[in-house]
Amino acid sequence: MKQPLDRYAVTGHPIGHSKSPYIHRWFAAETGQGIRYDAIPSARDGFEEVVRRFRADGGLGLNVTLPFKEEACALADVRTPRAELAGAANTLSFLPDGTVHGDNTDGVGLIRDLRINHGVALAGRRILMIGAGGAARGVLPALVDERPRRLTVVNRSPERAVSLAARFPAAGVVGCGFGDLRRGDGEVFDIVINATSAGLSGESAPPVPISAFRPGGAAYDMVYATEPTSFLLWSRAAGASLAVDGAGMLVEQGAESFRLWRGVRPPTRRVIAALRAELVRGG
Ligand code: ATR
Repeated sequence: MKQPLDRYAVTGHPIGHSKSPYIHRWFAAETGQGIRYDAIPSARDGFEEVVRRFRADGGLGLNVTLPFKEEACALADVRTPRAELAGAANTLSFLPDGTVHGDNTDGVGLIRDLRINHGVALAGRRILMIGAGGAARGVLPALVDERPRRLTVVNRSPERAVSLAARFPAAGVVGCGFGDLRRGDGEVFDIVINATSAGLSGESAPPVPISAFRPGGAAYDMVYATEPTSFLLWSRAAGASLAVDGAGMLVEQGAESFRLWRGVRPPTRRVIAALRAELVRGG
């Protein structure tokens, strides 16, 4: 009799447009791993129930997306330090002894995409992170680990940036509002990362002064879209030598989840190219 496939899934609200099933099926094919990966919709207050049912059905691992990453972190019995620091988990593993293991692979995904796929080193660089919500919090531990010369978090509500920065006292992370970037001599950044959703659906880019961006620097938008976001258009106007969206990060965070679950790191280059083509087709 044929063995049932090991089961994995992604859940979120909404989940219909998630590219994770597409990505993980690619990974499975590339690595010859026989797994099943589905998208499971969850009601806004239904996350725990989805987890319970998935586990009862023998599910081995779950990717968790908005708005449940904080809940996933709280639900885990054991958390990795990076999930603990982020206060959010995007990867749950259901171990044979019943333990729920929570991890956060978003930061690794961002770093690998920047460093390996785009050749952008972060050590010793001046980094500006725009946004202080869940997306920013999820990747800050990994950015801090890269030992940048400076890491500044700027946010529309400055107090949120200040309190997020205060989670990393030893690393000297600084939080401020957009107005602070315009004051005085003005700091200049080598790498600017957008962790807000501003700039999608025709909104204007966050109000970072062009003078804050070193010409020839790198700009990274953690969201992805078929058209360049207004943040990426802004960064090109400011002289960016590299302006990329988060499609590669999405694939890389998935690859890290896959590695945690299956013990094999899938190659990502072809999957990223396929995902981009799929996005252009409007898939
Ligand atoms: P997420 O989990 O996607 O980060 P979030 O926790 O609600 O969602 O955070 C959204 C982030 O985008 C915040 O940094 C938010 O700024 P505020 O904290 O001031 O609300 C930022 N954001 C959303 N829309 C924005 C806009 N139009 N301009 C600038 N920042 C915006």
